[in-house]
Amino acid sequence: MTTTSSLILALESSCDETAASVVRDGRVILSNVIATQHKLHVEYGGVVPEIASRAHIEKILPVIDQAVTKAGVTFDELDAIAVGNRPGLIGSLLIAVSAAKSLAWSLGKPLIGVDHVQAHLYAADLVMDADAQLSEPDYPALGLVVSGGHTCLYHVTSALEMTKLGNTIDDAVGEAYDKAAVILDAGYPGGPMLDKLAQTGDPKGIDPLPISLLDKDSLDFSYSGLKTALLYRVRGNPSGKGKDVTFERSASDLTADEKANLAAAFQQAAIGAVTKKVKRALDQMAEQGKTPKRILVGGGVSANSEIRKQMLALGEQRNMQVCLPPMSVCLDNAAMLAGLAHHRFVAGDFDTLDLPVIATSAM
Ligand code: KG4
Ligand code: ZN
Repeated sequence: MTTTSSLILALESSCDETAASVVRDGRVILSNVIATQHKLHVEYGGVVPEIASRAHIEKILPVIDQAVTKAGVTFDELDAIAVGNRPGLIGSLLIAVSAAKSLAWSLGKPLIGVDHVQAHLYAADLVMDADAQLSEPDYPALGLVVSGGHTCLYHVTSALEMTKLGNTIDDAVGEAYDKAAVILDAGYPGGPMLDKLAQTGDPKGIDPLPISLLDKDSLDFSYSGLKTALLYRVRGNPSGKGKDVTFERSASDLTADEKANLAAAFQQAAIGAVTKKVKRALDQMAEQGKTPKRILVGGGVSANSEIRKQMLALGEQRNMQVCLPPMSVCLDNAAMLAGLAHHRFVAGDFDTLDLPVIATSAM
């Protein structure tokens, strides 16, 4: 007999968030504790791996305690301990993985290692409300992961099974946002700050920024050209080469309106390209007789105001369900790991205590 009920504690420390969460039956978030390290990295303009690992060590135990307490459960009541063991910074991943192994071993509970990218695609099926009416998630789905490290499209046939349809050939969309925020001097963390600035601007106020859609049938993405186009638009033409390169001006020479319009033009190009590729993927899947039942979106950039707007509009146009994660589980969190781990738990598919940490995703 298989069981469909579970209470799973998951831990996450792949980058700059230390997180723990308890999820019931793979769907209901009982707690979602996230300790972010943004303040520690702000002066460097990006995540410093050694600082991140040390902060995870300080935070992991308090975060686990809070997650279990907020969920109103005891450690004994848990059915399994899940952990993100790939992809991520190795020194960071090791903290949650070591803690999860210790907990699983000392409590005598199964250990389940989860791929963080796959888990991002599961976040849209989580709910915060314990009384929510839950319908069974429908498959096949078209999956879109838009994060700091990934920009990928998938043909998703179950919570645990997916085939990649497209990938970025250079920067991920979140990475492009972070770099664009540096170019525009928009603040840190770059993605959310640029999104906010873009909402105050008018993309029609300036010439559009170009973005490559690659070959006409390609489902891949490319963001490095957009980043360079923005750089030249902000700073003017370069002269000199290598480390001697100089520009005509810098972001501080722009007016507030010019900055906001450039941010809006960047957002229009970056998100417009995602929407075009999602449409292309839907058309190709339909031609192959594989029309998906819904579009699943996940990853940090799924918090972006414009992508949420464009995906919902696309869903209306195509009469297709679009599933966006609740805002609290768009960025890195452990609830998505606990939810996905439920499907491994019910299948009795557990890991051993020699679970490795791996820098790259298997997805
Ligand atoms: O999923 P995530 O938290 O970490 C990774 O797995 O990479 O995604 C982080 C990325 C960062 O690049 C961040 O700038 C971007 O998501 N991001 C956003 C927004 N919120 C987060 N990008 C655009 N608009 C946002 N509102
Ligand atoms: Zn992530």
